[in-house]
Amino acid sequence: MINQPLKYAITLVAASFFATPAMANDTDAGATLFKKNCSMCHAVDKKKTGPALKDMSQDPARLTDVITNGSKPPMKAFGKKFSAEEIDTLVAYIRSEQK
Ligand code: HEC
Repeated sequence: MINQPLKYAITLVAASFFATPAMANDTDAGATLFKKNCSMCHAVDKKKTGPALKDMSQDPARLTDVITNGSKPPMKAFGKKFSAEEIDTLVAYIRSEQK
């Protein structure tokens, strides 16, 4: 019989092998996507080309909408580039930096 912590560790290792962004820890996946695609215009706590994460809306529905459909240029729509699950991880990451 495998003990619980070991079973948990094995599950984690297995999960990280097969992880898609939605299966992995959402905040970590979102942070990775954010660094590659958004950090040139958005920082956590200071304004760059776009608003700081801390100054963004705290409403997940609003964040999802802007990321999916875009806003005023140069904030473009990312709904074609990312899946809905990937956008969820970006929203999770932004929200995690707002607390
Ligand atoms: C080329 C620069 C640029 C890039 C790249 C960019 N943004 Fe933006 N973003 C902006 C600007 C500028 C605004 C403000 C637009 C406005 O005034 O409506 C904005 C606005 C937003 C808002 C709305 C905030 C609010 O409170 O209404 C969100 C959310 C956001 N961006 C998320 C992202 C995410 C997530 C990414 C990466 C996938 C990203 N942005 C990539 C420039 C950028």
